[in-house]
Amino acid sequence: MSGLGRHMLGLEGLTAQDITLILDTASSLKEINTRSIKKVPTLRGKTVVHFFVEASTRTRTSFEIAAKRLSADTVSLSASTSSLTKGETLIDTAKNLEAMAPDLIVMRHSMSGAPHLLAKHVGPSIINAGDGTHEHPTQGLLDMLTIREHKGRLDGLEVAIIGDVAHSRVARSDIIGLNTMGSRVRVFGPRTLLPPFAESLGARVCRSMHEAVEGADVIIMLRVQRERLDDVLFPSQREYAQRFGLGSRHLALAKPEVIVMHPGPVNRGVELSPEVADGPYAVILDQVANGVAVRMALLYLLIGAEVR
Ligand code: CP
Repeated sequence: MSGLGRHMLGLEGLTAQDITLILDTASSLKEINTRSIKKVPTLRGKTVVHFFVEASTRTRTSFEIAAKRLSADTVSLSASTSSLTKGETLIDTAKNLEAMAPDLIVMRHSMSGAPHLLAKHVGPSIINAGDGTHEHPTQGLLDMLTIREHKGRLDGLEVAIIGDVAHSRVARSDIIGLNTMGSRVRVFGPRTLLPPFAESLGARVCRSMHEAVEGADVIIMLRVQRERLDDVLFPSQREYAQRFGLGSRHLALAKPEVIVMHPGPVNRGVELSPEVADGPYAVILDQVANGVAVRMALLYLLIGAEVR
């Protein structure tokens, strides 16, 4: 029986027990993805709408694959091909989707709080697939699953998050989730891209790349979110790469078995040097693979479990 409720809007408010339930469920469902016939009837008769009002490769594809592997019927709606382009409001769009009786709506939107608005106004379960600069809970969960698989635990780990923390919904979900699970999180980046929320969420703010990576078990690099920048907050990509990009030289300061993560898409040569992105410490494609398992787990826990 799940204590998660009907929606997954963010990691804020989840207990360590809730997160462990999701990660354990994802770990058991992962085996389905290795079969020659990758399909189980768990969500037969359920309908999932993927409503993406912002671009996505990994999240959208993995949600669709996850739903299909559990035998749900899926429908996809993009901003550019929906009647949002004709001026229909978000709530009217959502109410029209609701009239078609889906069981769950997966939503990505550039506005923070958009999935929460949907959850207030329509009946189906809602999963937040990333809302503005607020949260990206399924990315936080797949990051924790990946770390747990490589390190065997989350408790007591030193995790560095480096880059454009201010605009990163991934950073917020990672900090919240990892803190709940007992990891110690530190952040670093250009001062203009380090938000006050990091410290208030319990992360330590570092003053140098050296301080950020020294003794780290896990390094999570973030993309500069150019689409969310109003001003030029750093001088050039070249200077950014020199001062805030992760190269092989930094890895010598971290723990010997450090893992390097990135939510994608990667700006090669900016936040990550190609030799690190393609090197033995990078687990970026493990994160992508775990995205399918985590999304299967959430679909199962929200609309598949017999008793909720
Ligand atoms: N990590 C992530 O959210 O990637 P996409 O934007 O491609 O979905």
